[in-house]
Amino acid sequence: MPQITRRDVVKGLLAPTLLASRQMSETADAAISPGLREAAKAHGIFYGCAVKSSVLKDDADFVTAVSVEAGMLVPEYELKRGTVEAKRGAYDFSGSDRLLDFAKTHGMMMRGHTFVWHAANPAWLTESLKNKPDERILTDYITTVAGRYKGKFHSWDVVNEAIEPKQGDARGLRVDSPWYQAFGESYIATAFHAARQADPHALLFYNDYNVEMANWHDSARRTAVLRLLEKLLSAGVPIDGFGVQAHLKCYGTRFDGSVFADFLNQIATMGLKIMVTELDIADIGGPADVKQRDREVSELGRRFLDVAMANPAIAGVLTWGLSDKYSWLSEYPDYKWPDGSLSRGLPLDSSFQRKDLWHALQSGFLGKQ
Ligand code: XIL
Repeated sequence: MPQITRRDVVKGLLAPTLLASRQMSETADAAISPGLREAAKAHGIFYGCAVKSSVLKDDADFVTAVSVEAGMLVPEYELKRGTVEAKRGAYDFSGSDRLLDFAKTHGMMMRGHTFVWHAANPAWLTESLKNKPDERILTDYITTVAGRYKGKFHSWDVVNEAIEPKQGDARGLRVDSPWYQAFGESYIATAFHAARQADPHALLFYNDYNVEMANWHDSARRTAVLRLLEKLLSAGVPIDGFGVQAHLKCYGTRFDGSVFADFLNQIATMGLKIMVTELDIADIGGPADVKQRDREVSELGRRFLDVAMANPAIAGVLTWGLSDKYSWLSEYPDYKWPDGSLSRGLPLDSSFQRKDLWHALQSGFLGKQ
């Protein structure tokens, strides 16, 4: 493959406003070998990442890195309801529009995250749901948002994190969700039907976490996810795939490739596509030696990726962020380092240098040893 340089990337691909604001760095002509998007493409799948529109606006080096590496974008928060409809009926698409423009300029696909979640809801919505309103509070929103981006998105996470067996429900549903409290289980099917109607071409995903590891908690979650998907499919709910969030932990729990492979096989047997939607690897609890930690994180990443790639239903892999500089892992209480050092769970370090994890993903995509 021909080598591209930072300057090519900046000249050829950056939006004019970003180009104008960019200060060319000393490394402007340094060669950058093809990114993860090319490696994934070689296997016939997509690689992409979550980004925040605010960061894309302000950090030109990050922009360069994203344009080299990502073939697909997903907004980290811009399409959560608390952002889109912070005030009832006053829709704000500024962040998601900006990301879609960026994706188009750089030849990337776009996915949407997420219509229905128990978290990141505006206060007015949580209040209204307590009064058990008409289900149009759900369907009107989906119709408006999916309709706005009709034909422009590859896929949507229609419902996010609807199960939580720890809450004691026999089906393993997350019963403390304001959506469940208002409508019972039916909100899930209702959301998928509304999404299909509003954008018949976007692939519709159910997305969830903690289904990857070989512990009893993840095992219960896998069972609940499989039951939910079977039930939805047998009721004719238009669902195209399952999103494995894959917020992995490198330390304190075990990954068993055969357990995870068996789960993915069961999803694929239902005729569903699989996407890894939010991959990152928490390094909390690991050794102080950064080199060793990076290596161990990358080894887990590779083992995980090999299982995902071995399943013919895999359509794409997205990491939740690209660089450690902007990782939610460094903010989230369960994952962050108490001394404030950055979590190192993403492919690029905080200076946008490729780490062991980047190389593990690249060689995994290319099927190399
Ligand atoms: C996270 C974002 O990364 C944070 O910036 C935000 O504060 C909270 O949400 N699962 C999901 C994502 O589906 O939407 C979450 O994103 C991470 C866990």
